[in-house]
Amino acid sequence: MAVLEHLTSQQAIDLENKYGAHNYHPLPVVLSKGKGVYVWDVEGKKYYDFLSAYSAVNQGHCHPKIIGAMEEQAKRLTLTSRAFYNDMLGKYEKYATETFGFDKLLPMNTGAEAVETALKICRRWAYQKKGIPENQAQIIVCENNFHGRTTTIISFSNDNVARENYGPYTEGFVKIEYDNLTALENALESNPHVAGFLVEPIQGEAGVYVPSEGYLKSAKALCEKYNVLFIADEVQTGVARTGKMLAVDHENVKPDILILGKALSGGVYPVSGVLANDGIMEVITPGSHGSTFGGNPVAAAVSTAALEVIKDENLAENAQVLGELFRDELNKFIPTCDLVVKVRGKGLLNAILINDTEDSSTAWDICMALKENGLLAKPTHGNIIRFAPPLVMTKEELMDCVSIIIKTLESFKANG
Ligand SMILES: Cc1ncc(COP(=O)(O)O)c(C=O)c1O
Repeated sequence: MAVLEHLTSQQAIDLENKYGAHNYHPLPVVLSKGKGVYVWDVEGKKYYDFLSAYSAVNQGHCHPKIIGAMEEQAKRLTLTSRAFYNDMLGKYEKYATETFGFDKLLPMNTGAEAVETALKICRRWAYQKKGIPENQAQIIVCENNFHGRTTTIISFSNDNVARENYGPYTEGFVKIEYDNLTALENALESNPHVAGFLVEPIQGEAGVYVPSEGYLKSAKALCEKYNVLFIADEVQTGVARTGKMLAVDHENVKPDILILGKALSGGVYPVSGVLANDGIMEVITPGSHGSTFGGNPVAAAVSTAALEVIKDENLAENAQVLGELFRDELNKFIPTCDLVVKVRGKGLLNAILINDTEDSSTAWDICMALKENGLLAKPTHGNIIRFAPPLVMTKEELMDCVSIIIKTLESFKANG
């Protein structure tokens, strides 16, 4: 079968089912085109994308400036490895570090790789700077975290589906309750070998849990008190998604280590990175860490363009304004229906909680109905549906989406 042969949705699904590993459970929609806030399936039906590839496509699908940068660079030079210098990486590193306010960037490709990188930097810092005895460093993480899929990362997950039968697990992690400062202080106080605190400023995969106001700021202060690195995983929340360039910006917190991915490339190419100041990043020396593709010229060109788009088009401000509008509109609707318990989120990273048991199929069924009505979203965990459209959405488009969502929820109400 020729790769470019036109397929029906069912044919494409059958191919994936037959020849692909079953590590996902996608909504049955087969997309073949995207532009801005819209995607089209192979039969030509148009949808609002209300997931943005898990907040990677913040700049909208196929943004012409980002695609243009990629095309131009792809024709000139794609990959050198880091065995040689290339003429794009340094310019990109300067731009990214100035954008986020750090001395140095370590470029990687996927979010999980960037998290791994941050953990390695933190452990080295523990031994070389803090003076923790060899192999004794501990990193505090939060319950219900999601930081990716590597063996080490799933070792400190408490999602059984992600963990089961992948042991033996990596040691060196202490788990505490999210949004609990007492638990953090107890963990810091009781263990002199703690090197870092790894935290999502909003727990995205867990169901868009927004911590109490002041949590991040106080957590950072506690980390300073105990000489522990505050590591912010902003793979999902970063790059304007929550209404500021970073979610930690809402509390004026500056992480010691910042992890970015996803929208760092506008969803065009796998680009991730770790940012830190010299006192921390200098623990990384030649040969101690690396990646063939990390920092390649296409990634550098794409990510530079992606960050420029965020600034040029004021996407953080747009996310802030539209996010408030979205929650306001849903909050007006929620008291009129028994089906939705609440809406929560920041900027354009939001979720609704469905009034049903965790293991019910209601959230999935609502997403299927939303799809029929021209809007694509997906449950996160159990009965929670995440709503995260591209940030290039207009107010009119958002209101159109709100009416699709409300109409769909009302039809469920009517169906009982
Ligand atoms: C907070 C967070 N960290 C890390 C990751 C992993 O990123 P990737 O899937 O690119 O490895 C994700 C992905 O959803 C994420 O939400």
